Amino acid sequence: MTRKLGVLVHGAGWVSTQHIHAYQNNPHTRVVAISSRRLESAKKRAEEAGLHDVKLYDDYHKALENPDVDIVSVCTPQHLHAQNTIDAAKAGKHILIEKPIANSLEEMKAMRDAVRRAKVKTVVSFVLRWNPLFESIKILISNGFLGKIYYVETDYQSAVAAWWSGYEDARKKDTGVSAFLVAGCHALDAARWFASEERYGAATPVEVFAYSGGLRKGKTRQWNYYTQRWEDMPPLEYDDLEVALIKFDNGVIGKVSVNFGGVQPYTFPIEIFGDHGTIKDNRLWSAKFEGNQKGWITIPTILPDSAEVTHHPFQQEIDHFVDCILKDRESHCNLEDAIKTHEIAFAALKCYETGKPVKLPLLE
Ligand SMILES: NC(=O)c1ccc[n+]([C@@H]2O[C@H](COP(=O)([O-])OP(=O)(O)OC[C@H]3O[C@@H](n4cnc5c(N)ncnc54)[C@H](OP(=O)(O)O)[C@@H]3O)[C@@H](O)[C@H]2O)c1
Repeated sequence: MTRKLGVLVHGAGWVSTQHIHAYQNNPHTRVVAISSRRLESAKKRAEEAGLHDVKLYDDYHKALENPDVDIVSVCTPQHLHAQNTIDAAKAGKHILIEKPIANSLEEMKAMRDAVRRAKVKTVVSFVLRWNPLFESIKILISNGFLGKIYYVETDYQSAVAAWWSGYEDARKKDTGVSAFLVAGCHALDAARWFASEERYGAATPVEVFAYSGGLRKGKTRQWNYYTQRWEDMPPLEYDDLEVALIKFDNGVIGKVSVNFGGVQPYTFPIEIFGDHGTIKDNRLWSAKFEGNQKGWITIPTILPDSAEVTHHPFQQEIDHFVDCILKDRESHCNLEDAIKTHEIAFAALKCYETGKPVKLPLLE
């Protein structure tokens, strides 16, 4: 029997629970190490997962020296992702990088160059690409049910707040940067994904115009969706609302928003228009039915309607990542592809400064 790929999970917080679980369930991988800022967090994750034969570290570089490690899952807060990725690439490890990948264009370039040099495999955790509704929509689009796509609208609507263990880093300008970067990148990535008619393709953005606003920035009195109460909590240091218009290289127009200010449950609305049909969330109308369709067809599937990490398809994402490593093929969701999604978030920030549309790519 061939040796299983050894996994180091780095950053033993909320999302790491799902990474660990998925690697445990994959027949080709074994979690051999967990590292974190505090050893007790790594220990807690190991105990919860019933992992007895696992090395625990509070020093990432020491963990990377472990010869049993083939794969690193970067689950730290976002301001550490770039350096964590560069270090893992230098150590020759394949890398699963949690979103967002970086806090600046410079960081993105440095990690891209390090991964290119190391020739390791990457997947960026745009886990919604494996959500069953996303999969169903891509199957419909790539089989021509919507014809030629011309307009896509996606929105990330979630009251990101103190209920989230990552909030303290994410809410700050220095470490979180912007709402599009912290979580709205899921909606930016979804727009790219649906704007392409290829089964496993995502469209390339060529121009962005954006506004930002909202009412939460700087306010301590905020709605806690989980307790259903108004509570005092540390404020957001950036705007809670961003809206971007995107032109893609195939002519599709996208409109994407991130909204941390809505007093409502988590929702992720999707609208896709083609010259032969329309999709609104899990509802389809298509001229392919030659006039026999008398109402919207509703697809009974799992919607992207929860912020809970247990709801996200990490198993499918990680199975895909492992398959790419074993078959020596690049993922549709690798670092090079994810850079195109993140560039939209950085272009939006540039647009707030200049008031002018921003041409992409930003990285040469
Ligand atoms: N793809 C998705 O849908 C999804 C879902 C949720 C989160 N995420 C992303 O995943 C990342 C982590 O989020 P989370 O919710 O898991 O946050 P979290 O619960 O705060 O976990 C982050 C962990 O990183 C550790 N850490 C902090 N600073 C560190 C350092 N300097 N060195 C080593 N470890 C350090 C913390 O360790 P200690 O406990 O040891 O102090 C903490 O346990 C974020 O980028 C987030 O956006 C993605």
